[in-house]
Amino acid sequence: MKKILLMAMAALMATFTLISCSKDDSPMNPTEQVLNDGEWTGNGEGRSGSFIVKVIVESHQVTKVTVVSQSESIFAQDAINSIVASAVGKTDVMSVEVDGVTGATLTSTGLIDAINMALYAAMGKPVDGEKTYKDDTCDIVIIGAGGAGLSAAVAAAETDGNLKIIVLEKQGIIGGNTNNSTGGINAAETDIQKGLGIEDSKKLFYDDTMSGGKYENIPALVENFVEHAPVTISWLTGLGADLSDVGLMGGSSVKRTHRPKGGTAIGPHLMKILKDATSNKNIEIRTSNKVTDLLSAVDGSVKGVKVQNANGSSYNLTSKAVIIATGGFGANLDMVTSLQPSLRGFATLNHPGATGDAFDWMKAIGGATVQMANIQIHPTAEVTNHILITEAVRGNGAILVNHESNRFCNEMNTRDVVSAAILDQTRGEAFLIFDQGVRKSLAAIETYANQHLLSEGATVAELADAVGIPAETLSETINRYNAQQKVGADEDFGRSATEMPVALETAPYYAVRVTPAIHHTMGGLSVNTDTQVLKADGTPIPRLYAAGEVTGGLHGANRLGGNGVADIVVNGRLAGIAASKKLKQ
Ligand code: FUM
Repeated sequence: MKKILLMAMAALMATFTLISCSKDDSPMNPTEQVLNDGEWTGNGEGRSGSFIVKVIVESHQVTKVTVVSQSESIFAQDAINSIVASAVGKTDVMSVEVDGVTGATLTSTGLIDAINMALYAAMGKPVDGEKTYKDDTCDIVIIGAGGAGLSAAVAAAETDGNLKIIVLEKQGIIGGNTNNSTGGINAAETDIQKGLGIEDSKKLFYDDTMSGGKYENIPALVENFVEHAPVTISWLTGLGADLSDVGLMGGSSVKRTHRPKGGTAIGPHLMKILKDATSNKNIEIRTSNKVTDLLSAVDGSVKGVKVQNANGSSYNLTSKAVIIATGGFGANLDMVTSLQPSLRGFATLNHPGATGDAFDWMKAIGGATVQMANIQIHPTAEVTNHILITEAVRGNGAILVNHESNRFCNEMNTRDVVSAAILDQTRGEAFLIFDQGVRKSLAAIETYANQHLLSEGATVAELADAVGIPAETLSETINRYNAQQKVGADEDFGRSATEMPVALETAPYYAVRVTPAIHHTMGGLSVNTDTQVLKADGTPIPRLYAAGEVTGGLHGANRLGGNGVADIVVNGRLAGIAASKKLKQ
Protein backbone atom coordinates (compact mmCIF):
# COMPACT_ATOMS: atom_id res chain seq x y z
CA MET A 1 0.00 0.00 0.00
CA LYS A 2 1.16 3.45 -0.69
CA LYS A 3 0.42 6.27 1.70
CA ILE A 4 0.80 9.93 1.16
CA LEU A 5 1.93 12.10 4.01
CA LEU A 6 2.58 15.77 3.65
CA MET A 7 4.62 17.32 6.37
CA ALA A 8 4.83 21.07 6.00
CA MET A 9 7.47 22.74 8.07
CA ALA A 10 7.43 26.28 6.72
CA ALA A 11 10.51 28.38 7.39
CA LEU A 12 13.01 28.90 4.81
CA MET A 13 14.44 25.58 4.12
CA ALA A 14 12.89 23.83 6.97
CA THR A 15 10.16 22.10 5.09
CA PHE A 16 10.07 18.59 3.96
CA THR A 17 7.47 16.48 2.36
CA LEU A 18 7.32 12.79 2.71
CA ILE A 19 5.79 11.82 -0.56
CA SER A 20 5.49 8.11 -0.18
CA CYS A 21 6.27 5.57 2.45
CA SER A 22 8.17 2.41 2.43
CA LYS A 23 7.60 -0.53 0.20
CA ASP A 24 7.31 -2.76 3.24
CA ASP A 25 4.51 -0.58 4.59
CA SER A 26 6.24 0.11 7.89
CA PRO A 27 7.54 3.64 7.85
CA MET A 28 5.16 5.17 10.38
CA ASN A 29 7.17 3.79 13.24
CA PRO A 30 10.68 4.00 11.88
CA THR A 31 13.65 2.67 13.74
CA GLU A 32 16.05 5.45 14.77
CA GLN A 33 19.11 5.85 12.54
CA VAL A 34 17.74 3.51 9.90
CA LEU A 35 16.67 5.03 6.63
CA ASN A 36 13.18 3.86 5.81
CA ASP A 37 12.55 2.95 2.22
CA GLY A 38 10.53 5.35 0.14
CA GLU A 39 10.71 8.65 -1.64
CA TRP A 40 11.57 11.62 0.56
CA THR A 41 11.83 15.34 -0.08
CA GLY A 42 13.93 18.02 1.59
CA ASN A 43 14.69 21.71 1.20
CA GLY A 44 17.88 23.66 1.75
CA GLU A 45 19.09 27.18 1.14
CA GLY A 46 21.88 27.57 -1.38
CA ARG A 47 23.79 30.61 -2.55
CA SER A 48 21.06 32.07 -4.73
CA GLY A 49 17.88 30.48 -3.41
CA SER A 50 16.30 27.20 -2.38
CA PHE A 51 17.07 23.63 -3.29
CA ILE A 52 14.33 21.03 -3.36
CA VAL A 53 15.58 17.47 -3.60
CA LYS A 54 13.92 14.09 -3.91
CA VAL A 55 15.77 11.19 -2.33
CA ILE A 56 14.91 7.56 -3.00
CA VAL A 57 15.81 5.05 -0.31
CA GLU A 58 15.74 1.34 -1.11
CA SER A 59 16.87 -1.43 1.23
CA HIS A 60 17.73 1.32 3.77
CA GLN A 61 20.20 3.08 1.55
CA VAL A 62 20.05 6.01 -0.84
CA THR A 63 19.73 4.83 -4.42
CA LYS A 64 18.90 8.10 -6.16
CA VAL A 65 18.94 11.85 -5.51
CA THR A 66 17.15 14.22 -7.86
CA VAL A 67 17.50 17.97 -7.59
CA VAL A 68 13.91 18.96 -8.32
CA SER A 69 14.55 22.69 -8.31
CA GLN A 70 17.40 25.06 -7.61
CA SER A 71 18.50 28.61 -8.42
CA GLU A 72 22.28 28.23 -8.42
CA SER A 73 24.45 29.42 -11.27
CA ILE A 74 25.55 26.94 -13.92
CA PHE A 75 29.02 27.26 -12.44
CA ALA A 76 27.86 25.46 -9.32
CA GLN A 77 26.83 22.44 -11.37
CA ASP A 78 30.09 20.53 -10.79
CA ALA A 79 29.68 20.85 -7.02
CA ILE A 80 26.01 19.84 -7.26
CA ASN A 81 26.80 16.77 -9.36
CA SER A 82 29.55 15.69 -7.05
CA ILE A 83 27.38 15.99 -3.90
CA VAL A 84 24.48 14.16 -5.56
CA ALA A 85 26.87 11.36 -6.58
CA SER A 86 28.37 11.10 -3.12
CA ALA A 87 24.91 10.84 -1.51
CA VAL A 88 24.12 7.63 -3.38
CA GLY A 89 24.82 4.62 -1.18
CA LYS A 90 24.52 6.55 2.10
CA THR A 91 22.84 4.83 5.01
CA ASP A 92 23.01 7.88 7.30
CA VAL A 93 22.95 11.67 6.98
CA MET A 94 25.80 13.36 5.12
CA SER A 95 28.54 15.30 6.87
CA VAL A 96 28.92 18.91 5.84
CA GLU A 97 32.51 19.33 4.70
CA VAL A 98 32.91 22.59 2.89
CA ASP A 99 35.88 24.82 2.27
CA GLY A 100 36.27 28.46 1.40
CA VAL A 101 38.13 28.01 -1.87
CA THR A 102 35.91 25.83 -4.00
CA GLY A 103 33.66 28.76 -4.74
CA ALA A 104 30.62 26.66 -3.99
CA THR A 105 30.54 26.68 -0.21
CA LEU A 106 27.00 27.98 0.14
CA THR A 107 25.70 25.86 -2.71
CA SER A 108 27.24 22.75 -1.15
CA THR A 109 25.91 23.51 2.32
CA GLY A 110 22.42 24.20 1.01
CA LEU A 111 22.30 21.04 -1.06
CA ILE A 112 23.61 18.87 1.76
CA ASP A 113 21.06 20.48 4.12
CA ALA A 114 18.30 19.57 1.67
CA ILE A 115 19.48 15.98 1.29
CA ASN A 116 19.88 15.62 5.04
CA MET A 117 16.39 16.97 5.62
CA ALA A 118 15.05 14.24 3.38
CA LEU A 119 17.21 11.67 5.16
CA TYR A 120 16.05 12.81 8.59
CA ALA A 121 12.52 12.46 7.31
CA ALA A 122 13.41 8.95 6.17
CA MET A 123 14.55 8.22 9.73
CA GLY A 124 11.43 9.75 11.22
CA LYS A 125 13.63 12.18 13.19
CA PRO A 126 12.88 15.87 13.64
CA VAL A 127 15.29 18.31 12.03
CA ASP A 128 16.46 21.55 13.65
CA GLY A 129 14.20 23.74 11.59
CA GLU A 130 11.20 21.73 12.70
CA LYS A 131 11.62 22.60 16.35
CA THR A 132 8.79 24.76 17.61
CA TYR A 133 9.61 27.23 20.34
CA LYS A 134 7.23 28.67 22.92
CA ASP A 135 7.25 31.89 24.97
CA ASP A 136 10.56 32.17 26.76
CA THR A 137 12.88 34.64 28.49
CA CYS A 138 16.58 35.32 28.25
CA ASP A 139 19.08 38.07 29.02
CA ILE A 140 20.06 39.19 25.53
CA VAL A 141 18.35 38.53 22.22
CA ILE A 142 20.46 39.09 19.14
CA ILE A 143 18.61 39.36 15.83
CA GLY A 144 20.70 38.09 12.95
CA ALA A 145 23.40 35.41 12.88
CA GLY A 146 25.82 37.08 10.47
CA GLY A 147 29.20 38.49 11.38
CA ALA A 148 27.79 41.34 13.50
CA GLY A 149 25.33 39.16 15.40
CA LEU A 150 27.80 36.42 16.25
CA SER A 151 30.50 38.95 17.20
CA ALA A 152 27.98 40.52 19.58
CA ALA A 153 27.02 37.14 21.00
CA VAL A 154 30.59 36.04 21.65
CA ALA A 155 31.63 39.39 23.17
CA ALA A 156 28.54 39.50 25.41
CA ALA A 157 29.24 35.98 26.67
CA GLU A 158 32.89 36.86 27.30
CA THR A 159 31.85 39.92 29.30
CA ASP A 160 29.48 37.92 31.47
CA GLY A 161 29.60 34.15 31.26
CA ASN A 162 26.32 33.77 33.14
CA LEU A 163 24.12 35.44 30.58
CA LYS A 164 21.53 33.53 28.63
CA ILE A 165 21.97 34.74 25.07
CA ILE A 166 19.81 33.66 22.15
CA VAL A 167 20.60 34.49 18.52
CA LEU A 168 17.65 34.44 16.11
CA GLU A 169 18.20 33.97 12.38
CA LYS A 170 15.34 34.11 9.91
CA GLN A 171 17.28 32.29 7.19
CA GLY A 172 17.82 28.56 7.23
CA ILE A 173 21.58 29.11 7.48
CA ILE A 174 23.75 31.48 9.45
CA GLY A 175 26.15 34.00 7.92
CA GLY A 176 24.08 36.48 5.91
CA ASN A 177 26.13 38.70 3.66
CA THR A 178 29.26 37.83 5.66
CA ASN A 179 29.25 34.47 3.87
CA ASN A 180 29.87 36.32 0.60
CA SER A 181 32.45 38.82 1.79
CA THR A 182 35.89 38.50 0.36
CA GLY A 183 38.21 41.50 0.73
CA GLY A 184 39.10 41.58 4.42
CA ILE A 185 38.99 43.67 7.59
CA ASN A 186 40.48 47.16 7.81
CA ALA A 187 42.40 48.26 10.88
CA ALA A 188 45.41 50.50 11.51
CA GLU A 189 48.32 50.16 13.94
CA THR A 190 47.84 46.41 14.28
CA ASP A 191 50.58 44.06 15.41
CA ILE A 192 50.18 42.24 12.10
CA GLN A 193 50.87 45.42 10.11
CA LYS A 194 53.86 46.17 12.35
CA GLY A 195 55.22 42.68 11.80
CA LEU A 196 54.99 43.21 8.05
CA GLY A 197 56.68 46.62 8.26
CA ILE A 198 53.53 48.51 7.18
CA GLU A 199 53.48 52.05 8.55
CA ASP A 200 49.96 53.17 9.29
CA SER A 201 48.13 55.23 11.88
CA LYS A 202 44.63 55.55 13.25
CA LYS A 203 44.71 59.17 12.07
CA LEU A 204 45.44 58.12 8.49
CA PHE A 205 42.72 55.44 8.68
CA TYR A 206 40.29 58.09 9.97
CA ASP A 207 41.24 60.52 7.21
CA ASP A 208 40.91 57.88 4.46
CA THR A 209 37.49 56.80 5.77
CA MET A 210 36.21 60.37 5.96
CA SER A 211 37.60 61.31 2.57
CA GLY A 212 36.21 58.10 0.98
CA GLY A 213 32.82 58.93 2.53
CA LYS A 214 32.96 62.49 1.13
CA TYR A 215 32.93 63.76 4.73
CA GLU A 216 29.26 62.79 5.10
CA ASN A 217 30.35 60.24 7.76
CA ILE A 218 29.41 60.97 11.39
CA PRO A 219 32.85 61.82 12.84
CA ALA A 220 32.23 60.34 16.31
CA LEU A 221 31.31 56.97 14.80
CA VAL A 222 34.42 56.96 12.62
CA GLU A 223 36.69 57.90 15.55
CA ASN A 224 35.20 55.14 17.68
CA PHE A 225 35.50 52.63 14.83
CA VAL A 226 39.12 53.47 14.05
CA GLU A 227 40.02 53.40 17.74
CA HIS A 228 38.57 49.92 18.34
CA ALA A 229 39.65 48.30 15.07
CA PRO A 230 43.13 47.07 16.11
CA VAL A 231 41.93 45.52 19.37
CA THR A 232 39.21 43.76 17.37
CA ILE A 233 41.85 42.26 15.09
CA SER A 234 43.67 40.93 18.19
CA TRP A 235 40.35 39.65 19.55
CA LEU A 236 39.69 37.73 16.33
CA THR A 237 43.18 36.26 16.18
CA GLY A 238 42.69 35.27 19.83
CA LEU A 239 39.60 33.33 18.72
CA GLY A 240 41.76 31.58 16.11
CA ALA A 241 41.36 33.79 13.04
CA ASP A 242 44.15 33.91 10.47
CA LEU A 243 44.50 37.55 9.42
CA SER A 244 48.16 37.35 8.51
CA ASP A 245 47.90 38.71 4.95
CA VAL A 246 47.40 42.47 4.66
CA GLY A 247 46.32 43.94 1.33
CA LEU A 248 45.47 47.23 -0.30
CA MET A 249 41.94 48.33 -1.22
CA GLY A 250 40.72 51.39 -3.13
CA GLY A 251 40.84 54.64 -1.20
CA SER A 252 43.21 53.34 1.50
CA SER A 253 46.57 55.09 1.65
CA VAL A 254 48.39 51.97 2.83
CA LYS A 255 47.86 48.23 3.14
CA ARG A 256 45.41 47.73 6.02
CA THR A 257 42.94 45.10 4.83
CA HIS A 258 43.56 42.01 7.02
CA ARG A 259 42.69 38.65 5.49
CA PRO A 260 43.71 35.00 5.76
CA LYS A 261 47.09 33.81 4.46
CA GLY A 262 47.44 33.99 0.70
CA GLY A 263 44.48 36.34 0.33
CA THR A 264 41.69 33.81 0.87
CA ALA A 265 38.15 35.19 1.20
CA ILE A 266 37.48 36.55 4.69
CA GLY A 267 33.77 35.68 5.00
CA PRO A 268 33.69 31.88 5.31
CA HIS A 269 36.77 31.97 7.55
CA LEU A 270 35.27 34.57 9.85
CA MET A 271 31.96 32.75 10.11
CA LYS A 272 33.70 29.51 11.04
CA ILE A 273 35.70 31.23 13.79
CA LEU A 274 32.65 33.00 15.19
CA LYS A 275 30.44 29.93 14.93
CA ASP A 276 33.03 27.85 16.80
CA ALA A 277 33.25 30.54 19.47
CA THR A 278 29.47 30.60 19.96
CA SER A 279 29.44 26.80 20.24
CA ASN A 280 32.26 26.90 22.81
CA LYS A 281 30.24 29.35 24.84
CA ASN A 282 27.02 27.36 24.51
CA ILE A 283 25.22 30.25 22.85
CA GLU A 284 21.95 29.15 21.32
CA ILE A 285 21.34 30.01 17.67
CA ARG A 286 17.85 29.42 16.29
CA THR A 287 17.77 29.38 12.50
CA SER A 288 14.50 29.69 10.56
CA ASN A 289 13.23 31.85 13.43
CA LYS A 290 12.09 35.17 12.03
CA VAL A 291 11.60 38.19 14.25
CA THR A 292 8.40 39.94 13.19
CA ASP A 293 8.40 42.79 15.72
CA LEU A 294 9.98 44.23 18.83
CA LEU A 295 8.15 44.09 22.17
CA SER A 296 8.13 47.40 23.94
CA ALA A 297 7.37 48.26 27.54
CA VAL A 298 5.19 51.15 28.69
CA ASP A 299 8.31 53.20 29.52
CA GLY A 300 9.35 53.04 25.85
CA SER A 301 12.15 50.54 26.41
CA VAL A 302 12.41 47.36 24.37
CA LYS A 303 11.66 44.21 26.31
CA GLY A 304 12.07 41.46 23.75
CA VAL A 305 10.93 40.27 20.36
CA LYS A 306 8.01 38.55 18.67
CA VAL A 307 9.24 35.56 16.67
CA GLN A 308 7.78 33.35 13.97
CA ASN A 309 8.65 29.68 14.30
CA ALA A 310 9.65 27.54 11.34
CA ASN A 311 6.10 26.18 11.25
CA GLY A 312 4.55 29.64 11.11
CA SER A 313 3.37 29.82 14.75
CA SER A 314 4.53 32.72 16.90
CA TYR A 315 6.10 33.14 20.31
CA ASN A 316 7.42 35.99 22.45
CA LEU A 317 11.01 36.02 23.64
CA THR A 318 11.34 38.56 26.43
CA SER A 319 14.79 39.83 27.30
CA LYS A 320 16.70 42.51 29.18
CA ALA A 321 18.39 43.75 25.99
CA VAL A 322 17.98 43.36 22.25
CA ILE A 323 20.76 43.75 19.69
CA ILE A 324 19.70 44.26 16.08
CA ALA A 325 22.24 42.80 13.66
CA THR A 326 19.97 42.09 10.73
CA GLY A 327 22.20 43.52 7.98
CA GLY A 328 21.19 45.87 5.20
CA PHE A 329 18.44 45.98 2.60
CA GLY A 330 20.44 45.43 -0.59
CA ALA A 331 18.23 42.50 -1.64
CA ASN A 332 15.04 44.53 -1.26
CA LEU A 333 15.06 46.10 -4.70
CA ASP A 334 11.77 47.94 -4.13
CA MET A 335 13.23 49.64 -1.09
CA VAL A 336 16.54 50.33 -2.87
CA THR A 337 14.90 51.91 -5.88
CA SER A 338 12.36 53.88 -3.87
CA LEU A 339 15.27 55.48 -2.03
CA GLN A 340 17.61 55.64 -5.03
CA PRO A 341 15.64 55.49 -8.31
CA SER A 342 18.88 55.64 -10.35
CA LEU A 343 19.57 52.04 -9.25
CA ARG A 344 16.58 50.61 -11.09
CA GLY A 345 17.74 47.66 -13.21
CA PHE A 346 20.96 47.04 -11.26
CA ALA A 347 21.76 43.52 -10.11
CA THR A 348 22.42 42.92 -6.42
CA LEU A 349 25.27 41.07 -4.74
CA ASN A 350 23.25 40.61 -1.55
CA HIS A 351 21.97 37.37 -0.04
CA PRO A 352 18.18 36.93 -0.24
CA GLY A 353 17.62 37.75 3.44
CA ALA A 354 19.01 41.31 3.20
CA THR A 355 15.53 42.82 3.08
CA GLY A 356 15.68 45.54 5.75
CA ASP A 357 12.96 44.13 8.05
CA ALA A 358 14.28 46.09 11.04
CA PHE A 359 13.25 49.43 9.59
CA ASP A 360 9.56 48.51 9.89
CA TRP A 361 9.99 47.78 13.58
CA MET A 362 11.21 51.33 14.20
CA LYS A 363 7.87 52.92 13.37
CA ALA A 364 6.24 51.86 16.63
CA ILE A 365 9.18 52.71 18.89
CA GLY A 366 10.41 55.89 17.24
CA GLY A 367 13.84 54.65 16.16
CA ALA A 368 15.51 57.09 13.77
CA THR A 369 17.39 56.38 10.56
CA VAL A 370 20.19 58.26 8.83
CA GLN A 371 21.43 58.57 5.25
CA MET A 372 19.11 55.86 3.93
CA ALA A 373 19.65 56.88 0.30
CA ASN A 374 23.41 56.23 0.53
CA ILE A 375 23.54 52.90 -1.29
CA GLN A 376 26.83 51.61 -2.64
CA ILE A 377 27.38 49.90 -5.94
CA HIS A 378 30.51 47.79 -6.29
CA PRO A 379 32.37 48.28 -9.59
CA THR A 380 33.40 44.70 -10.26
CA ALA A 381 30.51 42.27 -10.11
CA GLU A 382 30.07 39.26 -12.34
CA VAL A 383 26.38 39.91 -12.75
CA THR A 384 25.27 36.78 -14.57
CA ASN A 385 25.90 34.82 -11.39
CA HIS A 386 25.76 37.70 -8.88
CA ILE A 387 29.35 37.12 -7.80
CA LEU A 388 31.55 39.84 -6.33
CA ILE A 389 35.04 40.04 -7.82
CA THR A 390 37.00 41.44 -4.93
CA GLU A 391 38.67 44.81 -5.17
CA ALA A 392 41.75 43.01 -3.87
CA VAL A 393 42.35 41.74 -7.44
CA ARG A 394 42.97 45.33 -8.48
CA GLY A 395 44.87 45.95 -5.23
CA ASN A 396 47.19 43.10 -6.20
CA GLY A 397 47.77 44.55 -9.67
CA ALA A 398 44.86 44.03 -12.10
CA ILE A 399 43.74 46.74 -14.51
CA LEU A 400 40.40 47.54 -16.12
CA VAL A 401 39.92 47.95 -19.86
CA ASN A 402 36.82 48.73 -21.88
CA HIS A 403 35.42 47.06 -25.02
CA GLU A 404 37.94 49.05 -27.05
CA SER A 405 40.80 47.50 -24.98
CA ASN A 406 41.71 50.84 -23.39
CA ARG A 407 42.19 51.68 -19.74
CA PHE A 408 39.81 54.44 -18.68
CA CYS A 409 40.41 55.23 -14.97
CA ASN A 410 42.63 54.83 -11.94
CA GLU A 411 41.45 51.35 -10.97
CA MET A 412 42.29 52.02 -7.31
CA ASN A 413 40.06 55.00 -6.96
CA THR A 414 37.07 54.73 -4.60
CA ARG A 415 34.13 52.54 -5.63
CA ASP A 416 31.79 55.36 -6.53
CA VAL A 417 34.37 56.81 -8.94
CA VAL A 418 35.35 53.49 -10.54
CA SER A 419 31.71 52.40 -10.85
CA ALA A 420 30.78 55.66 -12.55
CA ALA A 421 33.73 55.30 -14.92
CA ILE A 422 32.67 51.77 -15.91
CA LEU A 423 29.07 52.84 -16.46
CA ASP A 424 30.38 55.47 -18.91
CA GLN A 425 32.00 52.81 -21.10
CA THR A 426 30.50 50.86 -23.98
CA ARG A 427 27.66 48.64 -22.62
CA GLY A 428 28.36 49.97 -19.11
CA GLU A 429 30.80 47.17 -18.45
CA ALA A 430 34.55 46.48 -18.43
CA PHE A 431 37.11 43.69 -18.35
CA LEU A 432 39.29 43.09 -15.33
CA ILE A 433 42.66 42.01 -16.73
CA PHE A 434 45.52 40.35 -14.87
CA ASP A 435 48.30 37.80 -15.26
CA GLN A 436 49.46 34.63 -13.59
CA GLY A 437 51.55 36.67 -11.13
CA VAL A 438 48.44 38.42 -9.79
CA ARG A 439 46.52 35.13 -9.75
CA LYS A 440 49.24 33.48 -7.68
CA SER A 441 49.29 36.39 -5.23
CA LEU A 442 45.62 36.13 -4.23
CA ALA A 443 43.95 32.87 -3.25
CA ALA A 444 40.48 34.40 -3.71
CA ILE A 445 41.11 34.23 -7.47
CA GLU A 446 41.17 30.42 -7.25
CA THR A 447 37.53 30.64 -6.20
CA TYR A 448 36.73 32.52 -9.40
CA ALA A 449 38.66 29.92 -11.39
CA ASN A 450 36.64 27.15 -9.74
CA GLN A 451 33.50 29.05 -10.63
CA HIS A 452 34.69 29.16 -14.26
CA LEU A 453 34.60 32.95 -14.27
CA LEU A 454 38.06 33.47 -15.79
CA SER A 455 38.68 33.81 -19.52
CA GLU A 456 42.24 32.80 -20.28
CA GLY A 457 44.88 33.34 -22.98
CA ALA A 458 48.41 32.00 -23.32
CA THR A 459 49.25 35.42 -24.77
CA VAL A 460 47.64 38.83 -24.46
CA ALA A 461 46.38 38.49 -28.04
CA GLU A 462 44.78 35.13 -27.26
CA LEU A 463 43.09 36.63 -24.23
CA ALA A 464 41.73 39.51 -26.32
CA ASP A 465 40.34 37.02 -28.82
CA ALA A 466 38.80 34.97 -26.02
CA VAL A 467 36.78 37.93 -24.74
CA GLY A 468 36.22 39.60 -28.11
CA ILE A 469 38.14 42.87 -27.75
CA PRO A 470 40.84 44.30 -30.08
CA ALA A 471 44.07 42.33 -29.61
CA GLU A 472 46.56 44.88 -30.85
CA THR A 473 45.17 47.64 -28.65
CA LEU A 474 45.12 45.35 -25.61
CA SER A 475 48.82 44.55 -26.14
CA GLU A 476 49.59 48.27 -26.42
CA THR A 477 47.55 49.03 -23.31
CA ILE A 478 49.29 46.37 -21.25
CA ASN A 479 52.76 47.32 -22.55
CA ARG A 480 52.14 50.96 -21.68
CA TYR A 481 50.82 50.05 -18.23
CA ASN A 482 53.86 47.84 -17.59
CA ALA A 483 56.27 50.59 -18.63
CA GLN A 484 54.54 53.03 -16.27
CA GLN A 485 54.49 50.47 -13.47
CA LYS A 486 58.25 50.05 -13.80
CA VAL A 487 58.90 53.75 -13.25
CA GLY A 488 56.15 53.97 -10.62
CA ALA A 489 54.21 56.71 -12.39
CA ASP A 490 50.86 56.29 -14.10
CA GLU A 491 50.85 59.33 -16.38
CA ASP A 492 47.46 58.38 -17.78
CA PHE A 493 45.28 58.01 -14.67
CA GLY A 494 47.49 58.76 -11.65
CA ARG A 495 47.58 55.29 -10.08
CA SER A 496 50.34 55.54 -7.46
CA ALA A 497 53.44 53.32 -7.32
CA THR A 498 52.02 51.46 -4.27
CA GLU A 499 48.84 50.84 -6.23
CA MET A 500 50.81 49.27 -9.11
CA PRO A 501 52.58 46.42 -7.29
CA VAL A 502 53.44 44.34 -10.37
CA ALA A 503 53.84 44.51 -14.14
CA LEU A 504 51.42 42.24 -16.03
CA GLU A 505 53.89 40.11 -17.95
CA THR A 506 53.61 36.53 -16.70
CA ALA A 507 51.50 34.28 -18.91
CA PRO A 508 48.82 33.06 -18.93
CA TYR A 509 46.64 36.16 -18.91
CA TYR A 510 43.12 36.36 -17.52
CA ALA A 511 39.99 38.48 -17.86
CA VAL A 512 36.64 38.74 -16.10
CA ARG A 513 33.78 40.77 -17.56
CA VAL A 514 32.54 43.08 -14.78
CA THR A 515 29.58 45.39 -14.22
CA PRO A 516 28.69 47.55 -11.20
CA ALA A 517 26.04 46.03 -8.90
CA ILE A 518 24.28 46.89 -5.63
CA HIS A 519 26.64 45.97 -2.83
CA HIS A 520 26.10 47.73 0.49
CA THR A 521 23.43 49.91 2.09
CA MET A 522 25.37 52.55 3.98
CA GLY A 523 22.44 54.29 5.64
CA GLY A 524 20.50 52.71 8.47
CA LEU A 525 19.52 52.99 12.12
CA SER A 526 20.81 56.00 13.95
CA VAL A 527 23.22 54.84 16.69
CA ASN A 528 25.68 56.39 19.13
CA THR A 529 29.20 55.19 19.94
CA ASP A 530 27.75 52.83 22.58
CA THR A 531 25.82 51.16 19.74
CA GLN A 532 22.50 52.27 21.27
CA VAL A 533 19.67 52.91 18.80
CA LEU A 534 18.61 56.55 18.89
CA LYS A 535 15.33 58.38 18.48
CA ALA A 536 15.05 61.42 16.24
CA ASP A 537 15.85 63.69 19.21
CA GLY A 538 19.15 61.84 19.73
CA THR A 539 18.15 60.06 22.95
CA PRO A 540 18.75 56.28 23.15
CA ILE A 541 15.91 53.77 23.20
CA PRO A 542 16.54 51.90 26.44
CA ARG A 543 17.81 48.32 26.08
CA LEU A 544 18.06 48.48 22.28
CA TYR A 545 21.39 48.18 20.45
CA ALA A 546 22.37 47.74 16.81
CA ALA A 547 25.51 46.92 14.89
CA GLY A 548 26.71 46.34 11.34
CA GLU A 549 25.06 47.11 8.03
CA VAL A 550 21.68 47.80 9.64
CA THR A 551 23.18 50.98 11.12
CA GLY A 552 23.97 54.19 9.26
CA GLY A 553 26.39 57.08 9.37
CA LEU A 554 29.77 55.38 9.67
CA HIS A 555 30.53 55.17 5.97
CA GLY A 556 29.04 58.43 4.75
CA ALA A 557 28.50 58.66 1.01
CA ASN A 558 30.91 55.90 0.03
CA ARG A 559 32.26 52.99 2.07
CA LEU A 560 35.87 51.95 1.65
CA GLY A 561 36.57 48.33 0.78
CA GLY A 562 37.43 46.43 3.96
CA ASN A 563 35.43 48.79 6.19
CA GLY A 564 32.26 46.70 5.89
CA VAL A 565 33.56 43.58 7.60
CA ALA A 566 35.52 45.79 10.01
CA ASP A 567 32.25 47.55 10.91
CA ILE A 568 30.37 44.35 11.66
CA VAL A 569 33.09 42.91 13.86
CA VAL A 570 34.18 46.11 15.61
CA ASN A 571 30.64 47.29 16.33
CA GLY A 572 29.17 43.82 16.81
CA ARG A 573 31.74 43.21 19.53
CA LEU A 574 31.10 46.64 21.08
CA ALA A 575 27.34 46.03 21.07
CA GLY A 576 27.81 42.71 22.88
CA ILE A 577 30.04 44.34 25.49
CA ALA A 578 27.74 47.36 25.92
CA ALA A 579 24.57 45.30 26.33
CA SER A 580 26.23 42.89 28.70
CA LYS A 581 27.76 45.64 30.87
CA LYS A 582 24.45 47.47 31.03
CA LEU A 583 22.79 44.37 32.47
CA LYS A 584 25.37 44.26 35.23
CA GLN A 585 24.60 47.82 36.35
O1 FUM B 1 35.81 44.02 -3.07
C1 FUM B 1 35.66 43.50 -2.00
O2 FUM B 1 36.31 42.52 -1.61
C2 FUM B 1 34.67 44.05 -1.09
C3 FUM B 1 34.98 44.31 0.15
C4 FUM B 1 34.13 45.17 0.97
O3 FUM B 1 33.05 45.53 0.52
O4 FUM B 1 34.54 45.55 2.06
